[in-house]
Amino acid sequence: MLTPISLMKVIAGEGNNRSTPNDKIFLGVIGTGSRGHHLAYLIKEYGHELGMEVTALCDVYQPHLEHTHAMIPEAKVYNDYRRMLDEATELHGVIICTPLHVHAGPTIDSLDRGLHVFCEKAMARTLDDTYAMAEAYYRTGKSLHIGHQRLFDPKFLRGMNKVYNDDLGVVTQIRAYWHRNNDWRRPVPEGQPELERFINWRLYRDYSCGLLTELASHHIQVANWAKKARPVEVRGTGSISFWRDGREVEDNVALIFSYDDGTQFIYDSMIQNRRHGLEVQVLGHKGTLELETNNFFLEEPPPPPKPAGIVQLLQDLEQNVLGKVPIGSSSWDPEIAMTYKGESIVADNNTDGTFEQFYGFAKAIREDKPIPGLFEEGYYASLWTLLGQQAIDTGKAVKMPEKYDISKFNPREFV
Ligand SMILES: NC(=O)c1ccc[n+]([C@@H]2O[C@H](COP(=O)([O-])OP(=O)(O)OC[C@H]3O[C@@H](n4cnc5c(N)ncnc54)[C@H](O)[C@@H]3O)[C@@H](O)[C@H]2O)c1
Repeated sequence: MLTPISLMKVIAGEGNNRSTPNDKIFLGVIGTGSRGHHLAYLIKEYGHELGMEVTALCDVYQPHLEHTHAMIPEAKVYNDYRRMLDEATELHGVIICTPLHVHAGPTIDSLDRGLHVFCEKAMARTLDDTYAMAEAYYRTGKSLHIGHQRLFDPKFLRGMNKVYNDDLGVVTQIRAYWHRNNDWRRPVPEGQPELERFINWRLYRDYSCGLLTELASHHIQVANWAKKARPVEVRGTGSISFWRDGREVEDNVALIFSYDDGTQFIYDSMIQNRRHGLEVQVLGHKGTLELETNNFFLEEPPPPPKPAGIVQLLQDLEQNVLGKVPIGSSSWDPEIAMTYKGESIVADNNTDGTFEQFYGFAKAIREDKPIPGLFEEGYYASLWTLLGQQAIDTGKAVKMPEKYDISKFNPREFV
């Protein structure tokens, strides 16, 4: 399991061994849609900090390929990733941003050709594909970095330090939610209805598990990271309760992942109300982290500074009078949320870790070996999102089948 300290060192550039300007890292991007274009943009704009450059682009959909090629005209373009892997021999690594069901093939083929792979989350549409990617990772010894950017987000890193340093005490519950208010559809070009499933792949079961693989996978990774463990069981329910437009994936899900020490990770997601946005809360007996919003709260807050003068007098009076009125006892008191504002986890909350992930990827490529523990974070997050979908589909508690346990490859995964 990753320690936050080792990841902070990666971000700080320690051990990157960056040497000469000639020491460039050449990357190919497979899948130049929304995410692929964005990551290609980040590398074009900031990749020089890491000596990274995109030299090859691949997509089967010409409008997306052209859009990203217009941004990086010097890159070679391909419609078939295998041809790219054959011909773009300068590549050190690839970034895979295809739809979920098209992650495994390009990942395994790239690893087998000795390339390092950054593959967007979640890993794959099926448990077997996810496991096949793991086998290729351990077989080749190359890096397989799954795009869980929170692992490189300073507020999550510092927050995890607080968990590991016992600042929260015993953590027995983690709660997360991800709420949006939109139909999650992408526009299909007019006159080409046959492209619906291709463009809106995340709404159809053959290609995606919807809210689970697309959103929940991030917070499952955070929960596992906080617990330094993977769940032992998941139960869940879900429905298409609002966007009844022909989609096959739920728009409303609720799950509970249980850990063997009794911790419960309670998760829900919906896309018909955005009042509460997204959050992941780590709840210990001494404190609480609210990581997405960069907050830390102690159960016993430090006393506020004493007000002066007349305000103090009024407060003392109120205390004295109300404190003596026999209106109830502790068994009666309602549980009211704390009003104390807590403290920020980091002072500068100006990144979500997306670009910082490439510090890790650059380090792995330069050293020609993976960052220990990083892959396992992505693996178990992906696996448990798929098991969560099984729990919803079957209405039963689901455990991980033994055959998907990768500790046989890496017995120190959670050390
Ligand atoms: N980490 C994050 O926060 C984050 C955010 C958004 C998306 N993602 C992930 O990025 C991935 C892509 O999502 P997206 O929103 O960019 O999807 P998208 O549909 O916008 O892009 C996917 C691209 O892959 C292309 N493609 C499909 N099959 C291909 C093949 N065989 N070879 C080459 N290209 C192919 C499509 O034509 C399309 O251009 C998903 O796994 C998604 O979960 C991650």
